[in-house]
Amino acid sequence: MERSLLIKEVIPFFLMFASLIGAAILTDFLLHQLQLIWLGRYLGIPGTLIIILSFLYSLRKRKIIQTGSPKKLLQFHESCAWLGSLLILVHGGIHFNAILPWLAIVAMLIDVISGLIGKYLLKRSQKQISSQKKKLMEQGMSNDEIEKAIFWDAITLDLMKQWRAVHFPLTFVFAVLSLIHIVSIFLFW
Ligand code: HEM
Repeated sequence: MERSLLIKEVIPFFLMFASLIGAAILTDFLLHQLQLIWLGRYLGIPGTLIIILSFLYSLRKRKIIQTGSPKKLLQFHESCAWLGSLLILVHGGIHFNAILPWLAIVAMLIDVISGLIGKYLLKRSQKQISSQKKKLMEQGMSNDEIEKAIFWDAITLDLMKQWRAVHFPLTFVFAVLSLIHIVSIFLFW
């Protein structure tokens, strides 16, 4: 009996996201301990630059640039997105004055989640479901029985596919909100 998608794929995915939030809380805590809270404000700049750098992969994927191995660039995209988000989270800290940059952070976090879903869950889950179907067919199960057996896995997979569809539009929302925040900061510097 195969372990369900939930245990095999969703939990490792959740741990990856939790590591980002955990690292942000830890970094913020250390900055407070070391009396370096001011540094957090400046982390917005490298955070933004690193996230911009991560878009090299998006340019490669859409063939706007031709050089670089797509696989390596994807890894680069993931690492930059993780590190950049970490710096931005620490930058936002626990200060609440303005709503707009916080909306940008919410968009960023949902974006990170949708990216992780694409990475961790979709491909492997699709493969797992089709190999599961094949196995059940070989065991002589009818189509109806197979549908029933994989019902919850198929629902989980459908939900994950929805998530992926939000990755690009959300990046756009995130970029616009961030840009408004950055422009207003520089106007009033
Ligand atoms: C060049 C990049 C950036 C610069 C120079 C910058 C600068 C700043 C500064 C100076 C503040 C303090 C404002 C205040 O205390 O009133 C601030 C706050 C903040 N920034 Fe940024 N930022 C940048 C990028 C970003 C990005 C990309 C995000 C989100 C995705 C972001 C989210 C926030 C949040 C949540 C706060 C706290 C707002 C609050 O106090 O309620 N920043 N930023």
